[in-house]
Parts: sequence; structure tokens; C-alpha cells
Amino acid sequence: MDGNGRWAERRHRPRVIGHRAGARAVNICIDFCLEKRIQALTLFAFSSENWGRPEGEVGALMKLFMNALEREVDELDRRGVRIRFIGERERFSATIVQRMALAESQTVSNTGLQLNIAASYGGRWDITQAARALAMDVAAGRLTPDDIDEAAMASRVALADLPAPDLFIRTGGEMRISNFLLWQLAYTELWFTDLLWPELDAVTLQRALDHYASRERRFGLTGAQVAPSDEIPE
Ligand code: IPE
Ligand code: MG
Repeated sequence: MDGNGRWAERRHRPRVIGHRAGARAVNICIDFCLEKRIQALTLFAFSSENWGRPEGEVGALMKLFMNALEREVDELDRRGVRIRFIGERERFSATIVQRMALAESQTVSNTGLQLNIAASYGGRWDITQAARALAMDVAAGRLTPDDIDEAAMASRVALADLPAPDLFIRTGGEMRISNFLLWQLAYTELWFTDLLWPELDAVTLQRALDHYASRERRFGLTGAQVAPSDEIPE
């Protein structure tokens, strides 16, 4: 979700106004996913690196985050959304941590949209904590180094119980991953738009889906190998 600051600056308004407009775009995105029956949505709300922004901006983002938690959770619960947070939670204030835990427990049995909020999240942090978990298992004798394979790693990164993301969307014109789900995105289709996050609408999201539908996903195989199986065999 990139471009909130620029959206505000173009209007000669403080950056926080852009973040507030960005929160509206989050709702548009969730509504779209619910309508399209998309199984999972992961929003990159706040990165490990965002803690380094000016204190006033971080404070404003925390306030917005807290307000959104207070305002939206009941309605999301009612709509069958399961909410989860991924990231280094300990860096948030106790009140926010408590709210996050509450949102998670309140919605834990919902089977509709799986909504994951990446907050204080970094892909490198994610891989590092998975490596640490593996090291602890080895130290405790539960695993040997030979047991460490891709599946062992995959089961310890965030969102291990969900399928890998099919589609990655970045707004704001930059063509980079910026430390998002590094492990999980290995074979994800990437889609970029110059639109700023607060400008996001259903038409743009549909464009991204249409683009996704036109891609051939080969996962390292050949086009012939992944072609639909109803073709005449040789
Ligand atoms: C993304 O918008 C929102 C967060 C990182 C919280 P930015 O704040 O990065 O907006 P730009 O990139 O400065 O326009
Ligand atoms: Mg940015």
C-alpha cells in the first residue's frame, strides 16, 4: 500500500491526511475481495523499516491503526473475515498488542476472507525468525540439521497454513518488493500501478485480476507441461 504521503503532498496537505485516505482504500480492497470470494488478502500496512520515520508520523499511524481496530473489527467479524497480524508485535504498545490479540481471537473461527495485516513486518525478519525456530528445534534435539529442507522452513514462516500468494499488487509506481513476503512470493505474479494507494478502486483491482488471468504460471516447467490437460495427447 504505497503512495499515501505523495497523495497528500499533491494536495498540499500533511502526510497523515494521506494515511487517513489510505484507510478508506483498505476498506475498498476488503469489500472487493469479499465480493470476489478471494480466499486471502495480506496488506503491508507498516514495515520493520517504517519505525524509522519521523516520530510524529509513526505516532499518527499508530493512532490510525488503533482507531481502525476499534471501529472495523466487529463488522469484519460479522462478514466472516478472519483477522491475523504478522510481524514483530513486541514493538507495538501494550494497548495495540492487546487489541490485535482481541481481533484475532474474536475472528479465529471465521472461514470467509483470511485477512492478514503485516505490521512491523519485514520479509527478512520473517525468514530470520523461521531460522531461529529451526535452530531451537535442532538445539532441543527435535530436528537434526539434515531435517532442514524447504518444507521445514516453509512451515515456520508467516502464513504457513495458507497457500502461497497468487498475486502481488503494489501501488505508487515503485517496482520493488521492499522487504514484503520474501519467501512466500517466490512464484507470485507481480503487478504494479502508478496509481497512489488512496486512489485505489474496484476498477483498478479488477484490472489486476484480469492481468493475472492472462498470465501463464509455469513454476519452472515448460509451457507444454502446464498446458490444460484436455489437449490431445501426442
Ligand atoms: C504507504 O504510503 C503507507 C505506509 C508506509 C504506512 P507512504 O507513506 O509510503 O507514501 P509515499 O510513498 O510517501 O507517497
Ligand atoms: Mg512509500
